[in-house]
Amino acid sequence: MPDTRGLIDRQLEADLAAVTGPAHVLVDSDLRRPYEVDWTRRFSGPSRMVVRPGTVAEVSQVIRLLAGRDVPLVLQGGNTGLVGGSVPGQPDPGRGAPVILSTSRLSGLGPVDSVSAQVTAGAGVTLARLQAAAHSAGLAFPVDLAARDSATVGGMIATNAGGLHVLRYGPMRAQVLGVEAVLADGTVISRLSGLVKDNTGYDLSQLVVGSEGTLAVVTAARLRLVGEKPQRIVVLFGLPDTTSALAVVDIFRRKIDGFQAAELFYDEGMELVIEHGSLSRPLADRHPCYLTVEIASLEDPTPSLMSALEDLDVPDTATAVAIDAIGAERLWAYRERHTETVSALGVPHKLDVTLPVSSLADFEKEVRREVASVHPGARLILWGHAGDGNLHVNVIGPAADDEGVDDAVLHLVASMHGSISAEHGIGRAKTRWLHLSRSDSEIATMRALKFALDPGDILNPGVLLTDQRLTAD
Ligand code: FAD
Ligand code: MLT
Ligand code: ZN
Repeated sequence: MPDTRGLIDRQLEADLAAVTGPAHVLVDSDLRRPYEVDWTRRFSGPSRMVVRPGTVAEVSQVIRLLAGRDVPLVLQGGNTGLVGGSVPGQPDPGRGAPVILSTSRLSGLGPVDSVSAQVTAGAGVTLARLQAAAHSAGLAFPVDLAARDSATVGGMIATNAGGLHVLRYGPMRAQVLGVEAVLADGTVISRLSGLVKDNTGYDLSQLVVGSEGTLAVVTAARLRLVGEKPQRIVVLFGLPDTTSALAVVDIFRRKIDGFQAAELFYDEGMELVIEHGSLSRPLADRHPCYLTVEIASLEDPTPSLMSALEDLDVPDTATAVAIDAIGAERLWAYRERHTETVSALGVPHKLDVTLPVSSLADFEKEVRREVASVHPGARLILWGHAGDGNLHVNVIGPAADDEGVDDAVLHLVASMHGSISAEHGIGRAKTRWLHLSRSDSEIATMRALKFALDPGDILNPGVLLTDQRLTAD
């Protein structure tokens, strides 16, 4: 019996190598492995091979080659996504394992245009590199998140990443002036002119933002920059509860112009981070709740900070303040190290939800009750972006494939009129629960769009929408 699959794959490897060069087609299992497991270690699946095209023309050729043979593709940038969308799932019984398309070589970064405050970046450019380029021109990129050294422009667009500064500048979507992308049939669409006003029909670039690699491969983007705000103050509050944290956010929003981050976490997270990172305690005592606040402006923000603090009427509050870069980094560590610390404890179930800000304090109490009742003994670590009503619910204890806690928490969120994903996306992790946040008509419209652009379900099958092929019947 001839090994048909082996023969087909060898031919595919040779054809892809003719496009990208053999060094950029990885077939060896040791070389493929890092691309097949996600950052959380909860999601993984086999691939046939990994291909790393270096130009938009190569991406187009690769996609034509694969679509012509009905081979599915998984798109991968920095592989820091937290919902399993960047790695293969179980192989499709009919089509076999997918090819992973890595955007790591699409790393061209154009000159910063300081007059328009814009830059064109390849999909594989990391956030840290983009931030450094903006900084060297006296500007800043408005989105920031702790995975900055690995997360890429393409991945951040595909997930509509949020991060630490959403309350001031909005998420990734608000920074995207246009994208260059390759569709599932290899067609290239390009909107990189950077025109701020351009009402000439459907905004295809914005359609791709948040589509999680299901509609097109982003190859480059024209991005908005903002003026750098060198005067920065970071304050860490120790507080009695979530309601007090929201009171701080309320006053800061009203009174402080350069208010740009309000990050919430709790005693259990703080203690873990201190222990895991061997950090010193930032405040003299422990507190049930913490809030890291950042203000950045052109002028010294101290007077408006003092005035906001005078208006604050919250008992049992302690503060630590940083006015220089080293101090700021030190205070930020208690919040930013939550993700790595929790992953060091085990493989977490990561649920990233938003609630109306006015329900956040109730949700925090309810979710603690719910998790304790569904999985007694589970460790629950909560943190998030208080200004956006976004809480990250991390649960350690249930096995990776035990979805009891996920189901209970996401239903609780829906019952309180929240969304099952604030910023990480649906990926493979939450497709089952999409109906909790989107109506049947919305899901049908999303399927229609997917089917119109990718009728063969070549791009990221099983991510965001499932059973795509059924739509065609
Ligand atoms: P990947 O993980 O490679 O991919 C993510 C998704 O995008 C996948 O579905 C993939 O198929 C698709 N994709 C990737 N590249 C492309 C492309 N070029 N074209 C089309 N589709 C593509 N997220 C936040 O929103 N806010 C945070 O504050 C935040 N903090 C984080 C902190 C840590 C420590 C970590 C590990 C992650 C954090 N994340 C956060 C999650 C993650 O960094 C973001 O989702 C980020 O946008 C993913 O970028 P990436 O390049 O790693 O994409
Ligand atoms: C965060 O805000 O820390 C990120 O979204 C990552 C995470 O939830 O682990
Ligand atoms: Zn987050």
